[in-house]
Amino acid sequence: KKVVLAYSGGLDTSIIIPWLKENYNNCEVIAVSGDVGQGTELDGLEEKAKKTGASKLYVLDLKEEFVQDYVYPTLKAGAVYENKYLLGTSFARPIIAKGIVEIAKREGADAICHGCTGKGNDQVRFELAIKAYAPDMTVIAPWRIWDIKSREEEIEYAESHNIPLKISRETNYSKDKNLWHLSHEGLDLEDPSNEPLYNKPGFLELGVSPEQAPDEPTYISLHFEKGVPTALDGESLSGAEMVAKLNELGGKNGIGLADIIENRLVGMKSRGVYETPGGTILYHAHNKLEELCLDKETYHYKQQVALKFADLVYNGQWYTPLRQALSAFVDNTQETVTGDVKLKLYKGNIIDAGVTSPYSLYDEDIATFDEDEVYNQADSAGFINLFGLPIKVQAKKGLTYDK
Ligand code: ARG
Ligand code: SIN
Repeated sequence: KKVVLAYSGGLDTSIIIPWLKENYNNCEVIAVSGDVGQGTELDGLEEKAKKTGASKLYVLDLKEEFVQDYVYPTLKAGAVYENKYLLGTSFARPIIAKGIVEIAKREGADAICHGCTGKGNDQVRFELAIKAYAPDMTVIAPWRIWDIKSREEEIEYAESHNIPLKISRETNYSKDKNLWHLSHEGLDLEDPSNEPLYNKPGFLELGVSPEQAPDEPTYISLHFEKGVPTALDGESLSGAEMVAKLNELGGKNGIGLADIIENRLVGMKSRGVYETPGGTILYHAHNKLEELCLDKETYHYKQQVALKFADLVYNGQWYTPLRQALSAFVDNTQETVTGDVKLKLYKGNIIDAGVTSPYSLYDEDIATFDEDEVYNQADSAGFINLFGLPIKVQAKKGLTYDK
């Protein structure tokens, strides 16, 4: 029997390897990591996986595909979950799961195993994506079936199975890192009354807190083509390069920290801190360009679409007809979202410093407070009479609405 394991090299997936062999007849365990930009987390992974009992490790380089096919469509949609969360973990799960299914098929595996807890969103995201590409695949989710109940018990299990640990017992938040973001959950953050220890060395990994940011601002200029960022300060960059570079500039200026009490799909509220420096800049810049280039009706309608899009991504429904259809709508709106956005990054703030586009709908001749030839102010009298007619009729009936 063969089991393909979604492997990160962290505590959970490390102890899962011996656990699988113990509980599934000494099965072969093939570890697979999707590289979506975890960086150094991938160092020494093969040796680690094999030492722990895996027969081999696949590392799938998904970085460019992750940004082009998952991150940028979500950016173009302007999708934000519950006003704050830029979905960094959410859209990484479908692409990783899809890659793992490909390996499972190639290897003729009998099951796919993941290390997500039974209390979280990630299990749902993984498994919906597995269903989409391997509808009959058996899924093994150890957290939902084994006797291990806590991090402490995991560490004991690891120690009794000679699994090397590099973590210390107290400082280990539950983290998820990729090119787009880093999430922190657990420990002191579980109590929402606690202020996150942003200034504590080792807490933030993608940047610094606003207090620690330099006193000099950083100016950047971003070029977009049809809603997609293609160049930074005049230099063309691939998706992965763009996000990495903006993470560096944003992180250094204390940008992109979010402290959220979010509603998980599985019912509970959970508290997390997210670092999304580059992503926060890109959302800001993209929206700035849409302010200039989208007509009012499309802009407003797109805001509704963004809400639904965010729910679909958060809930793991990436590979669904509605997500695909909404992406088609969004792409259609992006035809004219081309241009340049200048921003000033300063101590956690993103300050607009000018925007231009060949498709700008902003007309200075119309908007000016000075004299103009195109806008007849007398037209407004009739417009207001019709626009205000319902209010006038109500008032004549003695109806008021001031409560
Ligand atoms: N709460 C966030 C989400 O649901 C982040 C989850 C982080 N996942 C993890 N395995 N640490 O998308
Ligand atoms: C987990 O690590 O599985 C918890 C985070 C989540 O899935 O929401």
